[in-house]
Amino acid sequence: MSEASRLRAEFPLLAANPGLHYLDSAATAQIHRTALDAVAHHETHRRANVLRGSHRLAEAADQAFDSARRSVARFLNARSADEVIFTSGATAALNLVAQAFGATLQPGDRVLISLAEHHSNFVPWQMLRDRAGIALDILPVGVNGELDLAALPQLVTDRTRLIAVTQCSNVTGAWTDVAAIVAAARAVDARVLLDGAQAVQHGPQDVQALGVDFYAFSGHKAFAPNGIGVLWGRAGVLASMPPFLGGGGMIDEVTAEKSSWAEPPRRFEAGTPPIAQAVGLAAALDWMMALDWATIHAREARLCQQMIDGLQRIPGLRLLGPEASVRRAPIVSFDIAGLHPHDVCQVLDHHGLALRGGHHCAQPLLAALGVDTCSRASLALYNDEADVAACLDAVAAAVATLT
Ligand code: ALA
Repeated sequence: MSEASRLRAEFPLLAANPGLHYLDSAATAQIHRTALDAVAHHETHRRANVLRGSHRLAEAADQAFDSARRSVARFLNARSADEVIFTSGATAALNLVAQAFGATLQPGDRVLISLAEHHSNFVPWQMLRDRAGIALDILPVGVNGELDLAALPQLVTDRTRLIAVTQCSNVTGAWTDVAAIVAAARAVDARVLLDGAQAVQHGPQDVQALGVDFYAFSGHKAFAPNGIGVLWGRAGVLASMPPFLGGGGMIDEVTAEKSSWAEPPRRFEAGTPPIAQAVGLAAALDWMMALDWATIHAREARLCQQMIDGLQRIPGLRLLGPEASVRRAPIVSFDIAGLHPHDVCQVLDHHGLALRGGHHCAQPLLAALGVDTCSRASLALYNDEADVAACLDAVAAAVATLT
């Protein structure tokens, strides 16, 4: 049995659907058995609210929730679990920064994002600009969608307070040169927010080595349940931010007149958090931390190249994304002249393939690439040569059928 087949067997949905070629992991990665089992075990044996009870079940739930936070901290190589805030997903984490860090900005302060951002790292900043009078600068992209880092010196000024960029494009798969972004930010004492949504399914991260101040990701893209995400923030930066949502769990004291805030991370976790989801996320991350990522990355890169080589032989198909020299995640987007991606993806579905077609919540990037929509094949550690071959055959069949 190949390594990919062995891994595939550990994913309940894939094991239950042997004919499925799942190439939509950039939208949602499949949940690993250990995460599913951890959720079921928690709900069966420890279901109770956290931070509120003094009975045994509540204490067990508290311990499981605290332990989940420590697992996330290890996955990110954070200095402290207190730097880990549980959210409902990456979008909520990015909005938390826009709201809470945004509240510390003054009119005329500047935030820099890139044209390659997912809408979740675009729209919250436009909303903040319109509400708070900050300026929003946008780093352009080159013809293949790669960030135009040469434009950084003009766009980073002494009023720039934050640079918020994706670590890896959900459309092109291109990895961002984070060191260049961090260096530009540090030169003006600006903070850096990294959207790691597409990065986490390709291995553990090191926020200290990355040198950023905030890191956001979702559980559902890390082989874990839906409804859970993480905002990691540097302790000193989090401590300087006011809360975003008010409610139970985030206060120090409430009187009829006023409230004071708990320290982070509780300050940013109003209400009952996603407890079982956090436990499931921790199980998935613990499992990921034990994997041989060098071998997985080599396989992902080989499959990605096979996909690119095969697709570019199909007449009328235009590949979107970086030159071969640019490091990329196994995400391959393409446009077929005269065909709408929804039609392409429907034909592919009939061949047992799951791909995403549409604007991928990245309309500014697609506009820069000269398309409204595109199809996207995204691979993860459970994919193999058979998935790539099936995709290439089915895309060729779709072109023959639809043109
Ligand atoms: N952000 C996810 C994607 O790109 C949903 O598909």
